[in-house]
Amino acid sequence: MSRSYRIAVLSGDGIGPEVMTEALRVLDAVEAKFGFTTTREERLVGGAAIDATGHPLPTETVASCEQSDGILFGSVGGPKWESLPPDIQPERGALLPIRKHFGLFANLRPGVCLPSLTHASPVKNELIPNGFNVLCVRELTGGVYFGQPKGREERDGEPVAFDTMIYRKSEIDRILRVAFTAAMGRGKRLVSVDKANVLATSVLWRETAVEVAKDFPEVELSHLYVDNAAMQLVRRPDSFDVLVTENLFGDILSDEMAMISGSLGMLPSASLGKQKEGGLYFGMYEPSGGSAPDIAGKGVANPIAQILSAAMLLRFSLGENEAASAIEAAVAKAIDDGFRTGDIATGAAGETKVGTTGMGDAVLARL
Ligand code: IPM
Ligand code: MG
Repeated sequence: MSRSYRIAVLSGDGIGPEVMTEALRVLDAVEAKFGFTTTREERLVGGAAIDATGHPLPTETVASCEQSDGILFGSVGGPKWESLPPDIQPERGALLPIRKHFGLFANLRPGVCLPSLTHASPVKNELIPNGFNVLCVRELTGGVYFGQPKGREERDGEPVAFDTMIYRKSEIDRILRVAFTAAMGRGKRLVSVDKANVLATSVLWRETAVEVAKDFPEVELSHLYVDNAAMQLVRRPDSFDVLVTENLFGDILSDEMAMISGSLGMLPSASLGKQKEGGLYFGMYEPSGGSAPDIAGKGVANPIAQILSAAMLLRFSLGENEAASAIEAAVAKAIDDGFRTGDIATGAAGETKVGTTGMGDAVLARL
């Protein structure tokens, strides 16, 4: 019997729909090649959902995600919705609730700079002759993002606002285990990032890291304060293998890492819940870059991040590892063969400048 799965497809706003089109074409191709099928339910999210229903995350969208094996997400947000109250803006009203609702506590953000694309990195080329490959593991459902109390009130006649950074040991333990496990499958070096010279949550974080390390004796664990980590990342990105950190630090460091890897248009991400029996995860997969409203609708966006996000979905939520690897290899080959969207083009000899569909075609041809 052929293997079949359900995917919720949430293209969202900006370049979301156009890059999603390419990812779905690539999915079609690997399904035919590797003998499985997916049923895809396309649902509204973000600004597109606000325009159609008044809400960034309609219950119908959540229901469809609940019925699925995984969510392929495009991007949300844009200037059109920026003046709405923050809680119903596309980002806060859709992304954060999905993460919380599905318990997607483990955010994997690979920061890969291919040797052939080091010119696109703002880091001096001589510092990264072979590019680099860092995996950032970010805790995604705890910390100051969700800690209570948070709010705003009047005190002594002036407005006061407050957020709470809070972590349970169990929350720290489970994200560290994800990171250690990832490190075992890579270079076996893990840097845990905290601010243990200032924050109580970080002291607990560091203690827990030391404890969990005992279960992973092969992994070399080190600790960096977040300010130092931010500095080391631009100084020697290729010195890192896996990085693990709490929610807000991970938000900041993963943007930094994405920037130094050259183009946001290349980087996928996975947000995973608890591992299920059989080793798979329910997860949401999305490009690390945003909705890029400035280039939306022009057919020039780089679809690679979305295509690689689909590959991550195949690997982590469907267990279709061969198909995932085939996509990754086809993407690497398309880059090697010189295909470049505007974000990664230099105009050098041997490059073929392509748009969104052209890059999709180049990847498809190499599958
Ligand atoms: C991210 C984004 C989100 C976050 C925003 C849009 C709420 O920056 O996924 O990194 O802060 O987590
Ligand atoms: Mg961010």
